[in-house]
Amino acid sequence: MTEKKATLNFEGKSYDFPVYSPSVGPDVIDISKLYSTTGAFTFDPGFTSTASCESDITYIDGGKGVLLHRGYPIEQLAEQGDFLETCYLLLYGHLPTKAESDDFRERVTRHTMVHEQMHRLFAGFRRDAHPMAIMCGVVGALSAFYHDSTDISDEKQRMIASLRMIAKMPTIAAMAYKYHIGQPFVYPDNKLDYASNFLKMCFSVPAEEYKVNPVLAKAMDTIFILHADHEQNASTSTVRLAGSSGANPFACIAAGIACLWGPAHGGANEAALNMLEEIGTVDKIPEYVARAKDKSDPFRLMGFGHRVYKNYDPRARIMQQVTHEVLAELGIKDDPLLEVAMELEKIALTDPYFIEKKLYPNIDFYSGLTLRALGFPTTMFTVLFTTARTVGWIAQWKEMIEDPKQRIGRPRQLYTGEKSRDYVPENERK
Ligand code: CMC
Repeated sequence: MTEKKATLNFEGKSYDFPVYSPSVGPDVIDISKLYSTTGAFTFDPGFTSTASCESDITYIDGGKGVLLHRGYPIEQLAEQGDFLETCYLLLYGHLPTKAESDDFRERVTRHTMVHEQMHRLFAGFRRDAHPMAIMCGVVGALSAFYHDSTDISDEKQRMIASLRMIAKMPTIAAMAYKYHIGQPFVYPDNKLDYASNFLKMCFSVPAEEYKVNPVLAKAMDTIFILHADHEQNASTSTVRLAGSSGANPFACIAAGIACLWGPAHGGANEAALNMLEEIGTVDKIPEYVARAKDKSDPFRLMGFGHRVYKNYDPRARIMQQVTHEVLAELGIKDDPLLEVAMELEKIALTDPYFIEKKLYPNIDFYSGLTLRALGFPTTMFTVLFTTARTVGWIAQWKEMIEDPKQRIGRPRQLYTGEKSRDYVPENERK
């Protein structure tokens, strides 16, 4: 078999670079020796053509609208599995046997409580703090509480830190919510499954009995599955870059949370719902669609477009179905915002601007409607994304740490600043 090569002609010389063929997806040109052989860098702002790592966790075919975790389509995982099974799959690479699943669930469940002293940490935040601000701080502080799982060279500690974060993230997220609304924290209930426990920690109060609605718990679980991992997106790349320096896993996940908060990434679910509320009624849609197309207006249709998907986001399709199931269960027949969302989607999908640019609804377009119906305020939407994505970040971080080829991430730049010049004393400056 002939090895594939890519040839670059640069300044009168010819250079060959190896080309790797992945199991699926486009070929990859290995340019790691480009600088040492040619003296030039590549320039790729936004990493639109750059594979930053080798990974066997998640695959996206953006053209076809396909998402696979360890080879399994997201539709099958969402319909037939549950979130903790997806966590196992992402971490270990295969679907668990019954014994493996029981053992994993037991290990995660045993870590759901947080150190009691962490309760006092919350009191340092203003009551009106955005829950994502609390998440950044509290998750970062985990490394101050769990020193015994910060040695990244110890495989056992890496796994304990991983289980701790998967288990504690719903507890911390629920605490951020309870603190935000001024209600007492609710301890985890280890009799319940992951999603039911989370709903109980968010919505129960000590004064009343709380029964988890199984339909809503199933919807919550599906939402967690849909957000579990998404290849080398901005927050995952942030986690990998932070981890490449040898930083402890809690600090790396806190870095990922900070990145996810932005409205172009995980913050889009909050922004999408705010936008639907602002549009308010179907008759206002053309005005907003016109604004989204106007280059002089910074407004964008939130929940539309994706760097990788140039087709319908497969998660959005499942999310749309979950939205209908939740609204039906809650007896919400005419949600005016759902009406606006469906009409907006219809108009955008037939508009030449959106067709040409391949802008389709992404997961965030419908997730906000579902989360709102479940009872979450918009400020919690990205927190829920964080809770679910933690496992993906951890799986990607572990893969990187366990890769013998791993080196610190250190991009270069196209420098366009001043050349070297001499310091001018203040009294001589013009
Ligand atoms: N509304 C109107 N125009 C858009 C939109 C939009 N939502 N998204 C992209 N465009 C236009 C953009 O103006 C540009 O036009 P032109 O080529 O004429 O300059 C073209 O489409 C390409 O956009 P881009 O910003 O270069 O694409 P990108 O790959 O850098 O950005 C994106 C991807 C998701 C940040 C962007 O589509 C966006 O801002 N969408 C709204 C925010 C959103 O829904 N984000 C959630 C993403 S899914 C969840 C996640 O992964 O976190």
